[in-house]
Order: sequence, then C-alpha cells, then structure tokens
Amino acid sequence: MKEKAASTEPYKNLFALQNKVAIVTGGNGHLGTSITKALASFGATVFVFSRNDYSFQALSDFHENIHFVKCDVTDEKHFRHEVATLQKSFSNIDILVNNAFNERRKQIEDITKSEWNVGIENILSQVFFCTQAVLPGMLKAGHGAIVNIGSIYGFLGHNQDAYQEVKSSSIFYSVAKGGVIQMTRRLATEYASKGIRVNCISPGNFPKKTKGSPDRPGYIVALSEKTPMKRVGHPDEICGAVVYLSSQASSYVTGQNLIVDGGWSAW
Ligand SMILES: NC(=O)c1ccc[n+]([C@@H]2O[C@H](COP(=O)([O-])OP(=O)(O)OC[C@H]3O[C@@H](n4cnc5c(N)ncnc54)[C@H](OP(=O)(O)O)[C@@H]3O)[C@@H](O)[C@H]2O)c1
Repeated sequence: MKEKAASTEPYKNLFALQNKVAIVTGGNGHLGTSITKALASFGATVFVFSRNDYSFQALSDFHENIHFVKCDVTDEKHFRHEVATLQKSFSNIDILVNNAFNERRKQIEDITKSEWNVGIENILSQVFFCTQAVLPGMLKAGHGAIVNIGSIYGFLGHNQDAYQEVKSSSIFYSVAKGGVIQMTRRLATEYASKGIRVNCISPGNFPKKTKGSPDRPGYIVALSEKTPMKRVGHPDEICGAVVYLSSQASSYVTGQNLIVDGGWSAW
C-alpha cells in the first residue's frame, strides 16, 4: 500500500513573516523600498526608520502594514527611544534590517580626520548601535533575525575601470562595509546559541539610473560588461535574499555574507 504523503504545510510557510515586526533603516531608499515592500508582502509589520519621509506615501499605499518613524540612525539615543516605544505595542522587534547609509564621496588624498570619522559613523557605527538597541528585546524573546546590508566593496577592491565616469565610493565606505561583514560574524557567533541569527547581504551594482545619463552614457554599460550576467541589478532582486535571511527558511544560517551581484565577485 502507498504511504500517505507527509503534509506540505511546513514547507509552504518557510518564508512566512506573519506576526513578525521588522525595522528597516533607510527603508524608503533605492534598495530599502524594495526590501520594505517584500517584508510586508510576506506578512511582516514594517517600520521604516529614516530621516525624511519621501516616497513614504507610496509605501503606505502599497501596504497598510508599512509605517514610518522619523529617526536619524546615527542618533543612538533617539533610535533606542523609538525602539522602546515600539516595544510597548509589540512584544518584540523580530527583524532588523540595517540598510541605511549615507556617504560623501572624496578622494583618498583629501579626506580629513573628521570626514573619516563621520564616514565610519554613517556606514558602520550606526549599524552596531541600532543592533545593540534591539538585542535586549530579542534576547528576552529568545529569537531574532538581523540582516546587515554590506557591499561587494567590503571584501573586494574597486575596479576603477568600471567607474571612470563617476566618482567611486570613498575608501571609508570599503573599510566600513568590511567592518559590517566582520561585525556580522562576531555577533552571529556570540548570539547563535540564544536564538538570534545575524547575517549580511552584499549587493553588487544596483545603480539608481539603469540607462545611464547624458553626462555619463557609458557608466551602466561599463558596469554591465564587467558583470557575468551582463547587466546591473534591479532593486527587487535584493528581496529574495532579505526574505530568506529574515524567515524560517534560513533557520540554520548565521554569520554569513550572501552576495547578490550578478556574478561580479565570481570571475
Ligand atoms: N545601490 C547599490 O548599488 C548598492 C550596492 C552595494 C551596497 N549597497 C548598500 O545598500 C544599502 C542601501 O543603499 P541604496 O542604494 O538604497 O541607498 P539610498 O537610496 O541612498 O538609501 C539609503 C537610505 O538610508 C537613509 N539614510 C541615510 N542616512 C540615514 C540616517 N542617518 N538615518 C536614517 N536614515 C538614513 C536615506 O534617507 P535620507 O538620506 O533621506 O535619510 C535612504 O532612505 C546601503 O547600505 C548601501 O551601502 C547599495
């Protein structure tokens, strides 16, 4: 007699985020918008933490479970206060996506000490302090998923040929993103036995303008040619990795750096 097939339900719900509360820093930016929409689509209640509410109306029109918190993530006191406020309404912040960054691009020879410090603060230190703010709640709940957004330039050198028409990112961007990747490993091992998973996603090239512009027509072409897939990334192509690392689908994955770059780093 044929054995009865086991239920498929546990597999169908692997990526479900129902009843999960997520914070996405910079969740209304270029990649952040897609990340926020994806988490909400899989059932999470998402709080976008950003300094400005641009494109927020479109996000809240997209899904009723998307909310906006005006907050500068480099202001750790304010971030902590907003987390505490959320914790009064929700038992836990289940997911933190550290996605926000801002950067003033400068040549290596011209960077002052204060610009260096601000650069590291805006890309690396805020990731640590935002994480530190949600950890006690996650520890109390006994679970949590932290997803840091790194970059291929956190572990690769810059291919200057591909960036001839634009100012490439500053050296502190590379240094800080390298720090984000390493911070991920350290936090992951420290909290793995306590139910908290910490992973990183390193995007390749996801330029805001995908067709180039009159002043730099070759930029996208150069980036595409140097990518095995022969094209740059669309912001929605980061979502699979974020949902995976935020959900039960990755329940045995921690401390990893998932590279989403069309094969750029695989040559
Ligand atoms: N796009 C790419 O090709 C690419 C490649 C590799 C890695 N990444 C990484 O992906 C992440 C998102 O990049 P993106 O391209 O989407 O950049 P983006 O469009 O500039 O988005 C960054 C978001 O962060 C917010 N933000 C910046 N500083 C903030 C602060 N102090 N407090 C609160 N919010 C702040 C920005 O809004 P406000 O400035 O209005 O506050 C914006 O919403 C970054 O970590 C970036 O390093 C991107």
